[in-house]
Amino acid sequence: MAAILSVSGSPSPTSRTSRLLRHLDDRLRAQGHDVTPFDVRNLPAQALLGADFKHPAIVAATELFERADGVVIGTPVYKAAYSGLLKSLLDLLPQYALTGKTVLPLATGGSTAHVLAIDYALRPVLSSMGASHIVPGWFTLDKDIAPDDHSTPIVAPATAEALAQVTDLFSVALGGKTGVLRRTA
Ligand SMILES: Cc1cc2nc3c(=O)[nH]c(=O)nc-3n(C[C@H](O)[C@H](O)[C@H](O)COP(=O)(O)O)c2cc1C
Repeated sequence: MAAILSVSGSPSPTSRTSRLLRHLDDRLRAQGHDVTPFDVRNLPAQALLGADFKHPAIVAATELFERADGVVIGTPVYKAAYSGLLKSLLDLLPQYALTGKTVLPLATGGSTAHVLAIDYALRPVLSSMGASHIVPGWFTLDKDIAPDDHSTPIVAPATAEALAQVTDLFSVALGGKTGVLRRTA
């Protein structure tokens, strides 16, 4: 099965985006994938903001991208686009860091006014970095994600099915099989 890097670009210590990704990580693991969770906020700020390409943590992050077959990129919508934190990491990766990789773009936000932020903001950046296949993404309203790890469900039923579908399409694109798609095939 595929090696997947699951990247959250939220700076928040109580991030709904991260909670959503970790929830989907479990689904991907259940389908047999090897998933590495990665929160950009854990990288040293000085390295990110000082464009320290050679910092060991930035080098290690670059290697995680190199080793991945598939990458989940999750970001909160900030000011109608992806987070500055996510961009600060993408800027330090090689220009074609996503070459040959399958990418699942995900966003969370407070308003459906920005439901297209994935397509007009995030997708072009991922494409410019060489992603070979960017599967359909999904925008999730923050109110539909549990406020903490102890609440259930993690994702409201209204959006859970759509998230499962895009996650399963990503899995299939990576050569995986899913229970959901097998049932509907
Ligand atoms: C600085 C800031 C800017 C935001 N800008 C937007 C925005 O333009 N559009 C939107 O839909 N939500 C916006 N939001 C709401 C967040 O995208 C939303 O609450 C998101 O789920 C937060 O994810 P996180 O908990 O992972 O950081 C903004 C939140 C913050 C803190």
